[in-house]
Amino acid sequence: MHDIVENPTLSKALYVETYGCQMNIADSEIISGLLNQKGYKLSEKPDNADVIILNTCSVRDNAEKKIHDRLNHLKFYKKKNPAVVIGIVGCMAERLRSELIEKNNIVDLVVGPDEYRKLPELINDAENGTTGIAVRLSRVETYDDITPLRTNGINAWISIMRGCDKFCTFCVVPFTRGRERSRSFKSIVEEVHQLSATGFKEITLIGQNVNSYLDGENDFADLMCEVSLVDQNLRIRFTTSHPQDMSDKLIETIATHKNICNNIHLPVQSGSNRILKLMNRSYSIEHYQNLIEKIKKQIPEVGLSTDLIVGFPTETDEDHKLTLDFLNNVKYDGAYMFKYSPRENTKAWEMGDSVPEEIKQARLSEIIDLQNNIATEINKTLIGKTFNVLTEKESSKSSSDWTGRTDTNKIVVFKKGNINRGDYINVVIEKSNSATLFGKIVE
Ligand code: SAH
Ligand code: SF4
Ligand code: F3S
Repeated sequence: MHDIVENPTLSKALYVETYGCQMNIADSEIISGLLNQKGYKLSEKPDNADVIILNTCSVRDNAEKKIHDRLNHLKFYKKKNPAVVIGIVGCMAERLRSELIEKNNIVDLVVGPDEYRKLPELINDAENGTTGIAVRLSRVETYDDITPLRTNGINAWISIMRGCDKFCTFCVVPFTRGRERSRSFKSIVEEVHQLSATGFKEITLIGQNVNSYLDGENDFADLMCEVSLVDQNLRIRFTTSHPQDMSDKLIETIATHKNICNNIHLPVQSGSNRILKLMNRSYSIEHYQNLIEKIKKQIPEVGLSTDLIVGFPTETDEDHKLTLDFLNNVKYDGAYMFKYSPRENTKAWEMGDSVPEEIKQARLSEIIDLQNNIATEINKTLIGKTFNVLTEKESSKSSSDWTGRTDTNKIVVFKKGNINRGDYINVVIEKSNSATLFGKIVE
């Protein structure tokens, strides 16, 4: 069974703060699981913690800046209690290594994504006054045997693979997370059985490029199929897909299994073939377009989202226009949009950062405005429709409302009524904006 209730006899307190993508959320649960076994209980605040861990992200410069700011704040805790152990783990630990200790005298340990098994030993050393670094990347580590300590109770993330071999020229991930490797099919399916038995309602299978999942004969579509058969009341999601490797078999698997959510996140990055080539994205916009058409045909109600970067080196107004046209053409339900941020040691770093900041900002505002208008229009068409929603958490805006999501990943806010967290409920939509649907429970 999954250990969602911690061992109450534990005395030392661990506080973990997570930045970055869902891989880091899943890793923080692995770290918590591992340290829980070694005598640490989870703390919700850093105040009285014996160990404070920041699980960090390096994907853009501002992600790293946030951590530097946070470290400045943590000086306060170190002053108050000099015995507190402060650790930096995750992608920034992997990228900056000893520099993090040299430049911040409050950091006691630096541990990269493939070295979490060493944490108990390194924390022990730090308690005895020795700083420690472990940043070796592995070709095999998947933490297959470690039970993550999950506190959510409803939504679970399962990391099915680690690393990335795609080497998109802008991206730091292949350097911070190492080579691609898949976790065993059998252990993933077993974990899903356990999660279903402990009352979880939604599983998201995650990896940087889940379409390259392979364990013996079993590919990602086989895994999705097997996982979806575990429990018909368990919603199955996945992220992230790479457009080059998304197979017809996977599209068909999503279309034919009721509890596999009709939602696909398919990062396009740019609407210009010239830029896609410079990014080493290895597909053309025509291939991507074709894929979208296939998806829409086979899964008519599908919710689609994407990632976009503006201001990649040499991006011209014409390239940018192609991205705008593409957004108008596909009509995504949502998009994560970023200004290009140069990352040291990547191929694109050598191309220079040729698009000036003001132009990047203007292009970003333009795609955000366009995408917001598109999403607003799509969401207007949903008013009056009824959706089955999984009740996930209290609304951040009102304690009398729940928020949940539709199968297609739309966020829905509704009055609590007699509904509990984890319930599936039909909600009729009364109002909407670009990001949220508002409705009421269908009695
Ligand atoms: N593996 C996933 C996403 C990884 S990072 C994929 O391939 O889609 C999430 C997103 O961050 C990327 O899709 C990309 O849009 C953005 N990103 C990555 N590196 C970036 C950089 N150097 N500057 C700006 N955005 C970046
Ligand atoms: Fe980065 Fe590309 Fe790998 Fe995604 S597929 S993690 S963008 S290198
Ligand atoms: Fe960031 Fe590492 Fe994820 S760089 S986006 S935390 S894989």
